[in-house]
Amino acid sequence: MTRQTSLDTTDANALLRLWRSVFPVPLRPRTEKDRKRFLRSNLILHFRPPAVKEKTLTFTLSWGLGGMAATLVLLQMATGILLKFIYVPTPVDAYASVQTIITQVPFGRLVRNLHHWCANLLVVILMLHMLRVFFTGAFHSPRQFNWIIGLVLFTMVLAANLSGYLLPYDQLAYWAVTVITAMLGYIPGIGGWLHRALGNGAELGPQTLPFFYSMHTAVIPVLLVGLMGFHFWRIRKAGGLVVPRKSSEPMDEMPTRIPVVPHLLVREVSTALVLTATVVVLSIFLDAPLSTPANPGLSPNPVRAPWYFAGLQELLLHVHPAVAVSVIPLLYGDGHHPCPDRG
Ligand code: HEM
Repeated sequence: MTRQTSLDTTDANALLRLWRSVFPVPLRPRTEKDRKRFLRSNLILHFRPPAVKEKTLTFTLSWGLGGMAATLVLLQMATGILLKFIYVPTPVDAYASVQTIITQVPFGRLVRNLHHWCANLLVVILMLHMLRVFFTGAFHSPRQFNWIIGLVLFTMVLAANLSGYLLPYDQLAYWAVTVITAMLGYIPGIGGWLHRALGNGAELGPQTLPFFYSMHTAVIPVLLVGLMGFHFWRIRKAGGLVVPRKSSEPMDEMPTRIPVVPHLLVREVSTALVLTATVVVLSIFLDAPLSTPANPGLSPNPVRAPWYFAGLQELLLHVHPAVAVSVIPLLYGDGHHPCPDRG
């Protein structure tokens, strides 16, 4: 009996030691010291400083848009991995495999819908994020480089959307991608190479789908996640978010700081949960489009690019294609406007 009790105690101690090696700090840190240890011992959270300027926690400063973008990228990774188990990246089988996902796989329709709506929402959220960064003057020194990193991130998100758009290989996807690759062919310098790599001519070749698939599921996600880590690290190095102030207000040399755990963490997790719940509800009721199988011999009239390229497609009607795909977007991406109200 005594032997049994001492065995139980040894087992309990071993379990406790295992638990402590996984969670070295209490999961609900109560003291200041434990909060700092909690932050440092967590792989993701240790990117953050222990405390941030109190004013940066005001929701209407950042609108939580960067965090929402990060949440959507995570949801994209999770749903994309699930889709990969069934999807077949060949022109002959792609369309049928998408139909299998939505008609035969449990929750397949929901997972596909989530992947579709999160991808579109990500573009909208990023546009809003860029606007908020712009209007708070957060693209000035020392944050110019992070603005450039942001632009590369945005381009990658568009590339991820475009490469994913082709994968169902339906009429909608086939002809939209044909239009866009033709548009990209007009970019000075690299246009010809891009056009050949992506599709080569009026018809998409048999190599186009596997190429888009590899870019969409391997190259772009790896680069995107790496660059996001860099983006977050640069925010920390720049001393946190910008706190805009009127030029008449004095500079606050010693702003009040409050601990990231729990104050910022609770806000970020709540925003992520509300956003996730919203896209799940949207995806339950709204299906991602899927038209008839791709038919290279029959183009629909009109052929439409995805909505985020619709502006470029419209421009093609009015100006020379080279101007539409290079000069005008470059003017749009130029962020050199004076903004004195920085914190
Ligand atoms: C996948 C894409 C992106 C993710 C996940 C992301 C995430 C974030 C997060 C979490 C923040 C801090 C909090 C916030 O502002 O909400 C932030 C700040 C910032 N982002 Fe992004 N971002 C992305 C794309 C972009 C783009 C497209 C731009 C601009 C072209 C950009 C420029 C900036 C800048 C300059 C800051 C610092 C703002 C400041 O210091 O006040 N980001 N981003």
